[in-house]
Amino acid sequence: MNKNEPNYERYVIVGLVLTLLIVAGFSFYWFGESARLTHAAEDFAKERVHRGRAIYTEQCVSCHGADGEGGAGTALNDKSLLKNTMDAIIYSVIRSGVPSTQMPAWSIDFGGPLTDEDIKDVTAFIRAWEPTAPEIEPISFEPDSSRGALLFETTCAVCHGENGLGSDDGPAINDALRLASLDNDWYSSTIANGRPAKGMPTWGTVLAPNQIEDLIALVDDWREGIKVDAAFSVTDLIGSAIFSLEEEDPESAALHVTRALTVADGTGAEVLRNVAAQLLADDNTGALATLTALQEQWPLGDPVAGGEIYSTYCLPCHGAQGEGGIGPAMQPNVFIQETINADLVEFMLEGRAGTAMAGFDGRLSEEELANLVAFLRTWQP
Ligand code: HEC
Ligand code: HEC
Ligand code: HEC
Repeated sequence: MNKNEPNYERYVIVGLVLTLLIVAGFSFYWFGESARLTHAAEDFAKERVHRGRAIYTEQCVSCHGADGEGGAGTALNDKSLLKNTMDAIIYSVIRSGVPSTQMPAWSIDFGGPLTDEDIKDVTAFIRAWEPTAPEIEPISFEPDSSRGALLFETTCAVCHGENGLGSDDGPAINDALRLASLDNDWYSSTIANGRPAKGMPTWGTVLAPNQIEDLIALVDDWREGIKVDAAFSVTDLIGSAIFSLEEEDPESAALHVTRALTVADGTGAEVLRNVAAQLLADDNTGALATLTALQEQWPLGDPVAGGEIYSTYCLPCHGAQGEGGIGPAMQPNVFIQETINADLVEFMLEGRAGTAMAGFDGRLSEEELANLVAFLRTWQP
């Protein structure tokens, strides 16, 4: 090394050591500080959850349930929902609501009652469920032989005969020997693929896989020797019979009435038997008049059973005596007075979009709704 050149090495080393000391000192300070910040953040998050709980209890419980288990609104305390949905999404759904469902927009920006801070609070409250949220099973499909029978009677019976007993256009499917020697996989493939060259259509391109499973459930019951009634909708069949008579096709009308009689009971069945007799006596005008009157009162329900359903499903919003609450008064109610039974059932299946009146499709059966309508009629003058 040349003696005349300045030696910087010393300074470099001193500089390096000083830098390290500063970095180390800063880290010590920084660790302390970050612990302090973490505590502050935890406290802040706890307060958020606490405030969120209060908002949830006041605004959301009526639809989403006290523990987020769901009701008129979806379940929120659900492991897969929480795992797959970021806070930002939950936040924005609450802010803007879900159009054409009952989920209102909550943000002041959209005319709701909550500030953005409130919505962050309630989002934090919902998020806090995640560690303990239960896994909610999606509703799974259960094959159903009476649905299968409905499909069979309306789609296959033209060729395979009523109850699958065969006709000129197709072999019997409900045939004990054949059923015993062939398994469900064979039936399922035969129905799906068909034998187009031999007059058996290819149903796999027409029917949904679930519908073929319903048909296989029917095949299963036939194999066991069980007689299956088709899940006919009497409401639809009354309409079809009226249509057939208006088209001057009394044979088809008689078929619709016969089908309706396999499922109708009580007073409804009595009236339908009268219609069948009128058709048999060629009194088509009389049959049309009886059917039209029946359609106006259909479905006929049991008011006592309907009262129990009301207490469970409707009382929270419409009041114990139908005096009203979240929803309008039911006793008396002009809309009910002016609407025929079948349309009221339809209304309750569908609900009224954009309001807290959710549809009951999937929650109440047609029979239960008929009972409910009969009950609501007892409250009208
Ligand atoms: C009047 C009934 C009603 C009220 C009150 C209500 N919700 Fe909803 N909420 C619903 C319905 C119905 C849905 C499902 C909408 C759909 O079909 O997508 C829903 C959906 C949601 C979703 C989306 C869930 C998902 O599966 O993606 C969140 C989050 C939510 N609500 C939070 C809230 C919060 C928070 C409140 C209270 C501030 C609240 N809701 C109040 C009816 C309601
Ligand atoms: C247009 C008339 C027609 C319709 C409609 C029809 N099939 Fe067929 N089907 C036939 C004919 C014809 C055969 C016999 C073909 C042959 O000769 O191999 C057959 C055969 C079958 C077989 C095999 C029977 C056996 O024992 O070999 C099954 C199972 C079957 N059909 C089920 C159905 C189902 C279920 C439906 C309704 C979704 C249906 N078919 C609708 C005409 C029809
Ligand atoms: C979550 C609250 C809620 C529940 C539960 C509920 N409703 Fe409603 N219902 C409402 C609201 C809100 C309306 C008014 C909708 C509107 O603004 O048009 C309504 C409207 C109605 C109407 C129309 C009344 C009119 O004057 O237009 C009928 C009928 C009705 N509900 C019957 C029922 C029956 C029966 C049940 C039980 C199966 C039921 N509701 C359950 C909230 C509810």
